[in-house]
Amino acid sequence: MKLGRNDLCWCGSKRKYKACHMAFDEKINLIVHRNRGITAPMHDIIKTPEQIEGIRHAGEINSMVLDTVSEYVKEGVSTGKLNQVVEERTKELGGICAPLGYEGYTKSVCTSINEVVCHGIPDDNRLLKNGDIINIDCTTIVNGYYGDASRMYMIGEVSEEKRRLVEVTKQCLDEAVNIAKPWTTLGDFGYAINKRATENGYSVVREIGGHGVGLDFHEEPWVPHIGKPNTGMLLVPGMTFTIEPMINMGKPEVFCDAEDNWTIYTDDGKPSAQWEYTLLITETGNEILSR
Ligand code: MF3
Ligand code: CO
Ligand code: CO
Repeated sequence: MKLGRNDLCWCGSKRKYKACHMAFDEKINLIVHRNRGITAPMHDIIKTPEQIEGIRHAGEINSMVLDTVSEYVKEGVSTGKLNQVVEERTKELGGICAPLGYEGYTKSVCTSINEVVCHGIPDDNRLLKNGDIINIDCTTIVNGYYGDASRMYMIGEVSEEKRRLVEVTKQCLDEAVNIAKPWTTLGDFGYAINKRATENGYSVVREIGGHGVGLDFHEEPWVPHIGKPNTGMLLVPGMTFTIEPMINMGKPEVFCDAEDNWTIYTDDGKPSAQWEYTLLITETGNEILSR
């Protein structure tokens, strides 16, 4: 059903459509009609100012949990201990760990070491070793809103090639953040991520991507870390999603552990790195809601 000029806007502002999102919708329609490869964002993934406030707060708390766990990441500590730190700090800050119980996941954080691409399960018997690289991925729920971010850490003396992988993966994320703004597309920054990775001799994981986030853990859209410029979903103000490139030192193929059904490994056993932010598309660019 098409809204009339004088109907109330779909966004919940209680203003007339013509004074609120009408020009916005017309702009989207014009762009998608002129560009076959571009898809329009659905209205229900565009957050209200009140929702953005809640997601921003959850994102800040999530970053604070990561700050705390960062202090514990060193040689000899178990990933089980890191899980405990995440749980305690999250509780202290009034949040809930989103991973715990999510589709049967049994821990509160993901800890992915070396050739583990993502979804590594914390384990009291896995101690961090000199030379390991580890991704710690936290997602926190506060007042029903979600923030999701992950960081890489290098334990002791890490080989030059692993160090470079971690750094280039961060550059991939930073570059995406630098170009993600309204009226560009998911494909624009997916292209940039893949370009930066492949220029450095690395490959981008394709099976797993970023995702809308905020009112739920995983929402629309799916956010690929490869792409073609001027294709994919159009970015518009009010969208909140993660960018979380998984970059492999070797081949892009990955597989899932047949026993735990969670842990994702590189096929070739070579290391993988990942960094993740929760991002808001603003009127002029973007804001990092969790890092
Ligand atoms: N935090 C991950 C992401 O970035 C999802 C982990 S799902 C879990 O999307 F169940 F393993 F926690
Ligand atoms: Co995450
Ligand atoms: Co995520």
